[in-house]
Amino acid sequence: MTTIFTPLTLPNGAVIPNRIAKAATQENLADNDQNPSKELFQLYKAWSEGGSGLSISGHIMVDRRAVGGAGDVVLEDDSNLDTFKEWAKVGSVGGNHFWLQINHPGKQLFYNLGQPALAPSAIPLANASMFAVPQEITESQILEVIERFKTTSQLAERAGFHGVQIHAAHGYLLSQFLSPLSNKREDKWGGSRENRARLLFEVIKTVRSAVSPGFCVGVKINSADFQRGGFDNDDAQWVIEQMNSMSVDLVELSGGNLESPVIMGPDAALSSDKESKAASTIAREAYFLTFAEEISKIATMPIMLTGGITRRAVMDKVVESGVAMIGMATALILKPDLPNELKKDLDPNPRMPSINWGQKSLTALVKISYLNHYLRVVAENQEKSSSVWPSWALAKQLWGLNSRAKVYRKHMEGYTYKGPVTTQ
Ligand SMILES: Cc1cc2nc3c(=O)[nH]c(=O)nc-3n(C[C@H](O)[C@H](O)[C@H](O)COP(=O)(O)O)c2cc1C
Repeated sequence: MTTIFTPLTLPNGAVIPNRIAKAATQENLADNDQNPSKELFQLYKAWSEGGSGLSISGHIMVDRRAVGGAGDVVLEDDSNLDTFKEWAKVGSVGGNHFWLQINHPGKQLFYNLGQPALAPSAIPLANASMFAVPQEITESQILEVIERFKTTSQLAERAGFHGVQIHAAHGYLLSQFLSPLSNKREDKWGGSRENRARLLFEVIKTVRSAVSPGFCVGVKINSADFQRGGFDNDDAQWVIEQMNSMSVDLVELSGGNLESPVIMGPDAALSSDKESKAASTIAREAYFLTFAEEISKIATMPIMLTGGITRRAVMDKVVESGVAMIGMATALILKPDLPNELKKDLDPNPRMPSINWGQKSLTALVKISYLNHYLRVVAENQEKSSSVWPSWALAKQLWGLNSRAKVYRKHMEGYTYKGPVTTQ
């Protein structure tokens, strides 16, 4: 019988020691040159020693000019590869896999970073004045993005990571291309479903053929964007069916984006057509379980489900349903050694206090700020008891984002674009 501690063999033959994954968590903890910092080493060591079979990094940017946050790590050339090598090593001391999540923000780019935002179409984010107004990305810029995903993947392999996860969820560039709401192009990169998925498929195929067969290539994708007329369950199913023939090793299912931030709370997630019919408590706790069960039957690669999972009974149910891996961010931020506790038959069920500030996006921001506080507690090796009021966490987060943006702008003053980066 498969349990949460059964090893998982991926399509490329690599073995993940158990079914628990630390899902990607943007930490905003890069050093001032956008490299992994000592705090990130400490954080990923804690997760590795905590017993998860797989750690996926917070999103790593493929282009220094386009970051999802001013404190994001960038990997676009080999000038600091030794630092990444050290990170890869320390983040897998416990015998787990350590993958880099690789990403391009597209129009989810804060305007105070002073960089142009690129998007499939020049459509600004709804109700999001903190973000730059995007320009339509050109064909040659699209080709450069593909090349950059390839370069970053090759560098990740050289640095000693076990794999990469291509981020095609949560409204970032690849997810923007998939969405009929944000992609209104009339060339071969927009319009039909095939055309909207072209960029993602090109990135997957290019990355897969540029790295060794034993190096893992995963994809994170939305089960739906939860927006009327947006990328929905049928689109996601079709994309995954196409990926069956692309040698993808693991597909992680999530949902939503900045305009519809469902990953930070179950209420909105349950408004999806399929999930709303999921009556049981367990299905409500694992937000996208109904869809993941269905997809696991048609996908040839293993499926990982992330969103809402904190309790042992829910984890058992997910694995019993045929879903290969359980992804957790919140629970593993609050309790990095959760897998070790579960091994001892303990069930600490680490959850956030209930936070509701009325407006959905604001509530999501407060929750993220609260969890960011705890990321720092672990990263800076502070006393575990260090607690925080959500409003204080929010104030600290906003202040941090602003001061970090100044550091980034200064860093970019000395930056010269040398053209598309390639690696042997
Ligand atoms: C602080 C924080 C940062 C996150 N950063 C990322 C990220 O960089 N990339 C990503 O795909 N998801 C990111 N997420 C979303 C998580 O990976 C996950 O999909 C989501 O939190 C739902 O899982 P959970 O209920 O276990 O927290 C982040 C979540 C949190 C709380």
